[in-house]
Amino acid sequence: MIEICNVTKYYKEPGLFSGKKKKVLDDVNLNLDDTENTVIIGESGSGKSTLGRLILGIEKPNSGTITLDGQSLLKPSVRQGKISAVFQDYTSSINPNISVYKAIKEPMIMMHRSFSEEEAEELLVKVGLDGSYLGRFPHELSGGQAQRVAIARALSTNPHYVLLDEAVSSLDVSIQVQILDLFLKLSEECNVNYLLITHDIQIACYLCSRLVIFNSGKVVEEIDRANVSCLKNEYSRNLLDSIITI
Ligand SMILES: Nc1ncnc2c1ncn2[C@@H]1O[C@H](COP(=O)(O)OP(=O)(O)OP(=O)(O)O)[C@@H](O)[C@H]1O
Ligand SMILES: [Mg+2]
Repeated sequence: MIEICNVTKYYKEPGLFSGKKKKVLDDVNLNLDDTENTVIIGESGSGKSTLGRLILGIEKPNSGTITLDGQSLLKPSVRQGKISAVFQDYTSSINPNISVYKAIKEPMIMMHRSFSEEEAEELLVKVGLDGSYLGRFPHELSGGQAQRVAIARALSTNPHYVLLDEAVSSLDVSIQVQILDLFLKLSEECNVNYLLITHDIQIACYLCSRLVIFNSGKVVEEIDRANVSCLKNEYSRNLLDSIITI
């Protein structure tokens, strides 16, 4: 279980001499259990990715705590191998000079563990590719193939949680559905839970059974997908209505 308790995060306002701080996360409290997929949904700039970076331990909160099974996620030994991530654009998040095999095994190498070509090939098959991709480089992959490689890389350490920050947003709609279906299949096969970050409620409901509505750095409402029509908060209802009226 990931527990986010009273987390607040400030960033310096842009401008060399402004000296002002902007509150991007405002006393966030959230529990992410390991039995269902959860989505954090909210509009652009609401602080979703910032929260994601704190969960990954890439940045520290100004106050509050984030723990995994009771231990602080700020400790690399607590998070390493247990939480991984897939971001929007694989080609910019991976070193363009390393092969698919090197990219897939990198998280294991960072943990001083080995990862054979056979193991990498097995993972590629799981994500709908095959061993012939092992020697390819990022620029030799389509967007959908690249995202499949990113997913294989994220799964290489057998994580409990995978953070998906807008992980299908840059793909065209038919490929989006294929990748979302792949996520659902892998969730069963590999026993992982997703924490999805998106502003797209359709994608949110496709993949996740629990929705956390986020606005201006705060959790405004949490609801099960089955009850999504019963949203109480006005901001959440508007978010849903904006989809239904399209
Ligand atoms: N490193 C940083 N330094 C200063 N400000 C930042 C930094 N990272 C994010 N911000 C600001 O924090 C706010 C929240 O950004 P964040 O990326 O978390 O939003 P988001 O909800 O993920 O948006 P989007 O849906 O567009 O990805 C924004 O106003 C952004 O400009
Ligand atoms: Mg974001």
